[in-house]
Amino acid sequence: MPALLIPILSLVVLWLCLPLEVLAADPRAALLANSCAACHGTDGQSPGAIPPLQGRAPDFIAQRLQEFKTDQRSSTVMNRLAKGYSDAEIALLATHFGTKRGRK
Ligand code: HEC
Repeated sequence: MPALLIPILSLVVLWLCLPLEVLAADPRAALLANSCAACHGTDGQSPGAIPPLQGRAPDFIAQRLQEFKTDQRSSTVMNRLAKGYSDAEIALLATHFGTKRGRK
């Protein structure tokens, strides 16, 4: 049994060394967010007239997407796009873009 103790302890120590960010990040969020880049730019930093997502609060992004999805807010393309995402996916997208802090 003691022979197993060292590998198990090593794994626990390794796990403790992982940055919290790695544990918190859901890989599905980055995959979903890829489809937004065409219009909102890489990491939500829109280069043109389309509103940027980076720097927006997660609650703001989630609320806007829900409003687009339910047609409470009119738009050119976002109504159609938002309807394709479940509430859980919208929450993932909002956290993904809402917690991005990169170049400004
Ligand atoms: C085809 C281009 C296109 C794609 C793809 C796209 N958007 Fe948009 N988005 C827009 C435009 C244009 C607006 C401005 C409202 C409108 O006219 O639809 C907008 C507005 C928004 C807003 C409101 C921003 C504000 O400041 O009011 C949010 C939030 C948003 N998009 C999130 C997303 C997310 C998340 C994705 C990916 C799942 C996405 N968008 C994909 C074009 C796009």
